Amino acid sequence: MKKIRKCIFPVAGLGTRFLPATKATPKEMLPIVDKPLIQFAVEEAIEAGITEMIFVTGRTKRAIEDHFDKAYELETELALKNKNDLLDMLKAVLPNGVNCIYIRQAEPLGLGHAVGCAASVVDDEPFAVILADDLVDGKPGALKQMIEVAHKYGGSVLGVEDVPRDRTHQYGIVSSTKVDERTEKLTAIVEKPKPDVAPSTLAVVGRYVLTPKVFELIGAVKAGAVGEIQLTDAISALLAYEPVFAHRFTGTRYDCGSKIGYLKATVDLARRHPEVGADFTAYLQETMNQGKP
Ligand code: UTP
Repeated sequence: MKKIRKCIFPVAGLGTRFLPATKATPKEMLPIVDKPLIQFAVEEAIEAGITEMIFVTGRTKRAIEDHFDKAYELETELALKNKNDLLDMLKAVLPNGVNCIYIRQAEPLGLGHAVGCAASVVDDEPFAVILADDLVDGKPGALKQMIEVAHKYGGSVLGVEDVPRDRTHQYGIVSSTKVDERTEKLTAIVEKPKPDVAPSTLAVVGRYVLTPKVFELIGAVKAGAVGEIQLTDAISALLAYEPVFAHRFTGTRYDCGSKIGYLKATVDLARRHPEVGADFTAYLQETMNQGKP
């Protein structure tokens, strides 16, 4: 398998579960303490060896482009004031040798459609997809682990985890056979099955390593579950041509597209934050002891 250099970040969704916060601001710019979700995702991609970051954006997503752009005025001000730590931190947002490409998805027609918008930029190479609202806290990062699996077994790899059966209708769910302790080979995949008909409880979460064949198949997908062009349907079609694996990566996944997942990520990461972690943990203990709110 060719080296995986490109990662698509579909960030054109409407983020309705976070309104009104996401009315004019992308969901992916919501911070976990002081770092936006999209930056966690880009750091995970860089760790996995990705050098081309491809953002599929929509309206109200300009802040993402600005975030990864050089902040000339801010950098000049910080340099004048000798705030070198902050300056270094800003410069590290996008290290040298990493490029950003932005593509517009004119209408939010679904995740499959969003990924398909990047076809001409990805061209004929295997590539990764990260949904930044699924934050994975782990070392090594989820994508690095999955790329190793893709190279080992040769094929596409979906990041998966077991979910409670009453949640299967929120995910793509796979049927599979075991390959190794953490890896399965797919026999089928279905989008958002109701709990009573779900073939398993193994759910696809926001990480994919895919071969370019999937672009051809996305083009043939008709709007499916909830009226969107689903990536799951294209992956299901891919199974007729190529092996697809599912990998249970290590690390904790937070569904930051939901309020409760976002809050859990905030609390867990804030407790380990180098600047505020100790104070925040003490505050949490105090407030719980007092039986607040
Ligand atoms: P979600 O299902 O979380 O949808 O999309 P959403 O619109 O972002 O959020 P809610 O459900 O309304 O609160 C999963 C991922 O796919 C992207 C989203 O940005 C998110 O990263 N996406 C979805 C697109 O880029 N385009 C689409 O048309 C749909």
